[in-house]
Amino acid sequence: MNRLTIIGNWKMNTTPESAHILGYNISKILSDGGMGNIVICPPHISLDRVAQAVAGSSIRVGAQDVHPEPSGAFTGEVSAPMLAELVEFVIVGHSERRTLFAESDEFIAGKVTASIEAGLKPILCVGESLEDRRAGRAESVVSSQLLACLANVTDVSSLLVAYEPVWAIGTGEAATPQISQDMMSSIRSALRSGFGDAAHAVPCLYGGSVNADNVQSFLRQPDIDGALVGGASLDAESFVAIVARASEVAAD
Ligand code: PGA
Repeated sequence: MNRLTIIGNWKMNTTPESAHILGYNISKILSDGGMGNIVICPPHISLDRVAQAVAGSSIRVGAQDVHPEPSGAFTGEVSAPMLAELVEFVIVGHSERRTLFAESDEFIAGKVTASIEAGLKPILCVGESLEDRRAGRAESVVSSQLLACLANVTDVSSLLVAYEPVWAIGTGEAATPQISQDMMSSIRSALRSGFGDAAHAVPCLYGGSVNADNVQSFLRQPDIDGALVGGASLDAESFVAIVARASEVAAD
């Protein structure tokens, strides 16, 4: 496993005030650090307040999305250079963006390159639908998402990849450790085919109904370096419990 990475995706939850409190509470409990890379991703409107709440701790902050263009007439959007003044990471290509907002691999590819150019670390999400899995094309769908979204990338040193099967997100039905390991191994070979040895250092995370009870089963897989956590990251105690359980595996 590369260095342990646990990321909390708060989605469209929390107000600026409650986000500040949640960030502060997480950073207080995890203040001793040394537990790997812990990143929390609040809504855009709360990034500044959460960054202030966790300042001085080992917690880092990420955004949940970014627009590919650096500036211009894109009402309501936020660009990579704007985010880079506030945060270190950004989630791109989450399945909710792909399905609810019809984002294509090509559009997501623009977000990945814009993020890297601005000095952000993109967390590229990929994952198949239940229909894809039932049709036996899960691995080909995910590999093609991955390579299409990285089409314009030459340097993967700041990249993270999250495998999030759509059917496991927010359903309470996590993938089995074996399914996630098989997919992660396929993701790693796709990365190697595109980027050679540099691919080894790319942290690969599993996401989809991760909680404190199942996180260790994923992290014990040889190709899984961490987790992207949605629902269970919205409560300080439950997020910290996931980090603590994950750290036990990292320390083995
Ligand atoms: P979940 O969400 O942990 O609530 O399933 C994961 C995600 O969407 O990143």
